[in-house]
Amino acid sequence: VLRVNFVTSIDGAAAVDGLSAGLSGEADKALFRLLRRECDALMVGAGTFRTENYKPLRLDEERRAWRVAHGLPAYPRLVLVSRTMCISAASPALAEAPVRPLILTTGDADPRDLATVAEVVRCADLRSGVAQLRRLGLEHILCEGGPHLFAELSKEDLVDELCLTVSPLLAGPGAGRITAGEPHAPRPMRLSRVETAEDGTLLLRYARRRDS
Ligand SMILES: NC(=O)c1ccc[n+]([C@@H]2O[C@H](COP(=O)([O-])OP(=O)(O)OC[C@H]3O[C@@H](n4cnc5c(N)ncnc54)[C@H](OP(=O)(O)O)[C@@H]3O)[C@@H](O)[C@H]2O)c1
Repeated sequence: VLRVNFVTSIDGAAAVDGLSAGLSGEADKALFRLLRRECDALMVGAGTFRTENYKPLRLDEERRAWRVAHGLPAYPRLVLVSRTMCISAASPALAEAPVRPLILTTGDADPRDLATVAEVVRCADLRSGVAQLRRLGLEHILCEGGPHLFAELSKEDLVDELCLTVSPLLAGPGAGRITAGEPHAPRPMRLSRVETAEDGTLLLRYARRRDS
């Protein structure tokens, strides 16, 4: 399964002042933690990794115990997707990761000192990249964005599920949507789950409809 998780405002913004934090309330944070508990790989685009200043992955004891009880390693593996590999090897999310992160790259950029903190996996495109992840046993992939990576995955029709949190907020004009970059063919989805939090946050889950 490749699951993508995003939060948006009612009027479709994917960020407030360039970050998703201003959109994310308690219900979204709880979902975020829950989704991280279940995956083999936590995939993130280099743009989001850089702007959101990703921290080293930490799961509390309860979630680690849940994973182990379900036959998973204590931590998922961070998979960073980049063409340029303009990523600092000193970034704590890499240097202090509980499991050696993986950098999936479609380019031929020099990894420099990144190879000391992460495994660099080269692929021709995201389709073959995801296939390589699966061969490494990373079956359940949770992608936390961002918009360019989401569009690239969707262009290749690799997205099986979208978890979308709609925050009760009008963010106003300016911010981008949860998808960005090159247009691709529309992908029909089926609404598979709806939950409403007390503060009016809507938690939606959509599955890719492949019968059409
Ligand atoms: N609302 C939400 O839930 C949410 C979630 C995530 C992010 N965001 C927001 O989104 C913004 C960042 O957006 P973004 O679109 O720049 O982020 P992004 O999609 O995470 O990053 C784009 C970068 O990912 C790499 N990439 C994407 N497709 C690739 C491919 N096919 N092959 C190799 N590398 C690929 C490239 O990295 P290189 O440049 O290194 O080559 C590209 O520049 C921030 O404002 C963040 O707050 C919002």
